[in-house]
Amino acid sequence: MKELLVQTGVPYSIKIGRGLLCRAGEALRSVTGAGRAAVVTDSNVAPLYANRLLQCLQAAGFATSLFVFQAGEEQKRLRTIEEIYAHLYKHGITRKDVVVALGGGVTGDMAGFAAATYLRGMDFIQVPTTLLAQIDSSVGGKTGVDLPFGKNLAGAFWQPRLVLIDPDTLDTLPPRYFADGMAEAIKYGCIKSRTLFDRILEGNACEFIEELIYACVDIKRQVVEQDERDHGERMLLNFGHTLGHALEKLYNYRTLSHGEAVGIGMVRITAAAERAGLTETGSAQRITAALRAYGLPAEDPHTAVELATAAYGDKKSEGERLHLVLLRAVGDGVVHTIPRAGLAEFLQGEAVL
Ligand code: NAD
Ligand code: GLY
Repeated sequence: MKELLVQTGVPYSIKIGRGLLCRAGEALRSVTGAGRAAVVTDSNVAPLYANRLLQCLQAAGFATSLFVFQAGEEQKRLRTIEEIYAHLYKHGITRKDVVVALGGGVTGDMAGFAAATYLRGMDFIQVPTTLLAQIDSSVGGKTGVDLPFGKNLAGAFWQPRLVLIDPDTLDTLPPRYFADGMAEAIKYGCIKSRTLFDRILEGNACEFIEELIYACVDIKRQVVEQDERDHGERMLLNFGHTLGHALEKLYNYRTLSHGEAVGIGMVRITAAAERAGLTETGSAQRITAALRAYGLPAEDPHTAVELATAAYGDKKSEGERLHLVLLRAVGDGVVHTIPRAGLAEFLQGEAVL
């Protein structure tokens, strides 16, 4: 088992190891004196892993309850949060108890948000079961839900007390979701580690999945420690996301998965930055090769103007300025600010500053 300590306001540990799910009880007991543990999961994950987790928590002395919601991003909304609150109330959960998020990013974001707000805040832990959740969403304390007018618009920074990552749970993950997570792994390589990127490029990430998870989480840990509230360095984690979100929007959140959209976004923004002389030549081609190695698309027919128009509403822009994450070279990300109205020209490689 490998372990990392995240030095945020309230520090917490991330444990990574095969079979950890079955040791969740003792791990949780080491960080809390809680009497009750409320497990939140979705309808796909529940039949696979909930019983094992519940038994393990009970063996460690926790009184347990289980809340299951219908799987899918559409459920990441306030109505589900209310249902979680009702479950917590019905089961007599107090502020001294703990919420356990078992599942992908949708589960973690919602269980975390419910924990952040129920009784003005209670402990929660993350037991992520998708690659995306294991290398990204379970770490860093961003929790929340979508609103009818946009994704992730309501939420809170609320760090978990513990993150337990069991790579064995990925054995049941459908391949498209695995590839989705790989897009985020490629992102980490792009912004912070040429070594990680080159290893991923070999196309056999499954063969070193524990090391891959560790490397990605370690990068996220460092970034979050420097900028817990997302005012500077943490923006690097959005590499590919401005255009990725624009593409998701253009396809009405269907057709392209999040990882697929982010992958194309990384290539498009890097190709533009290369044309502008800001990024080492050949970088977009290398990212394309890495994406293809995991069956991810790298191209999309939308024009620069279409992408820019869809991205103008990006909530990550401040006033008239737009923060773009670019690469000086693969492994070296940088935040570059342009006038918001200049994005289309930037993507066409015309106006840069
Ligand atoms: P998800 O939670 O919907 O999981 C994807 C699918 O995989 C679901 O159908 C789920 O039921 C299924 N699943 C999960 N684990 C499984 C397993 N082990 N075996 C079989 N099936 C399994 O989605 P996701 O891709 O994990 O996460 C996407 C969400 O994460 C989005 O809502 C996004 O906004 C959020 N996110 C949050 C952060 C953050 O920092 N908080 C970062 C990135 C993404
Ligand atoms: N996934 C982006 C962040 O955690 O900041």
